Amino acid sequence: MTAYEIISKKRDGFELSEEEIGYMINGYAEGRIPDYQMSALLMAIFLRGMNKQETMTVTKNMLYSGEVVDLSSIPGVKVDKHSTGGVGDKVSIILAPVVAAAGVPVPMISGRGLGHTGGTLDKLESIPGFRVDYSIKEYKEKIARVGTCLIGQTPDICPADKKMYALRDVTATIQSIPLITGSIMSKKLAEGIDALVLDVKTGHGAFMQKHEDSVALAKQLISVGEAFGKPTVAYITDMNEPLGNAVGNWLEIVECIDGLHGEGPDDLMEVTHQLCGAMIYLGKKAASIEEGVEISKEMIRSGKAWDKFLEIAEEQNGDVDILKNPLRYPKPAFQAQVPAAESGYVASIHSLEVGLTAVTLGAGRQKADDLIDPKAGIVLHKKAGQAVEAGEPIMSVYTDREEVLKAAVERLGKAVAYSAQPVESKALIHEYLDKNSL
Ligand code: URA
Repeated sequence: MTAYEIISKKRDGFELSEEEIGYMINGYAEGRIPDYQMSALLMAIFLRGMNKQETMTVTKNMLYSGEVVDLSSIPGVKVDKHSTGGVGDKVSIILAPVVAAAGVPVPMISGRGLGHTGGTLDKLESIPGFRVDYSIKEYKEKIARVGTCLIGQTPDICPADKKMYALRDVTATIQSIPLITGSIMSKKLAEGIDALVLDVKTGHGAFMQKHEDSVALAKQLISVGEAFGKPTVAYITDMNEPLGNAVGNWLEIVECIDGLHGEGPDDLMEVTHQLCGAMIYLGKKAASIEEGVEISKEMIRSGKAWDKFLEIAEEQNGDVDILKNPLRYPKPAFQAQVPAAESGYVASIHSLEVGLTAVTLGAGRQKADDLIDPKAGIVLHKKAGQAVEAGEPIMSVYTDREEVLKAAVERLGKAVAYSAQPVESKALIHEYLDKNSL
């Protein structure tokens, strides 16, 4: 067996065997297969696809390239949620305390911002002192104590995915269903879950822009989760417009603080409660998803979720006082408003453009080693469907980089479409899928 033969086989559209996939992934993780041969294979997979069996083998090889965390000593059904990524998607930061407060342990290994999409770790790290770099031993202890712990991928978790992901990022091979499935599911299976809820985003701001591709991805993710004996369900949710009103790390934390006090934007809270409801149901603390949603709302109403959030922050070394008094946070040096170009109704706000602009303001990275400015970002004052008068501020922009402000305001102005007629609101949650949908 040679890498050359395996690459040619996939290039010509044939199925790869378990041995061939293992040879390439293990060889790459261990440094025997060079970047150029792995890049060629990734592109062949991107173009030719993989069947269910091959996707399962990719996942297994990535999973067992590192440590699989055993949380069986912690009582209860451990459930996590994973989003395929979007703009303004801060759901995890409200969801983890809600679900933990409802008595379901939440093991959560999250990612950093990628391209135009934000990352939970960057958002959490905008809280002064908040640590996401705990060892697996500390991660387990914290879940046992608090009910959840939010950390980043350690060097022991799926090292093959870490290396392959970095290569995919620079070889235009991210948007491949088998590769995304292997990458997401290996990390989720490694973190110690018993069950999983997926939020598969669809639209401009998502990796999968077409509904049918998002459904195909959701089905692959479910089928791999179920094959590993982990009940897995998925929601397809809209990412044509940013979720909530804030885009940018600390701005999103402030929105989460509002959400945990029952004052979050409707769209953000609709998605959050639905995903929490499914987690509480899979965690066996509700008889149905609907009852889970009610419990989720009650966790916010009663203040239990907010108390749990403060407990998590304290446990992970975060500055609890600033979460209670967010106005103490340092202010960005520059601020500007994006005026509405027309009177009428907002027809759409292009989430990809908002995400890309937020990166230029300092809220994301243009290169892997760029530093993030936690204060930078965008706040939307209007969303699709709302009435607007020409000239009124439709968004506010925050940054320390004076030189990018003007271009950002212009670019955001072009990201908004208007309608003279009222605009019908589109469903945010498109579809629910589980093993019966396969
Ligand atoms: N998130 C991941 O972890 N992996 C992918 O391939 C895409 C999104």
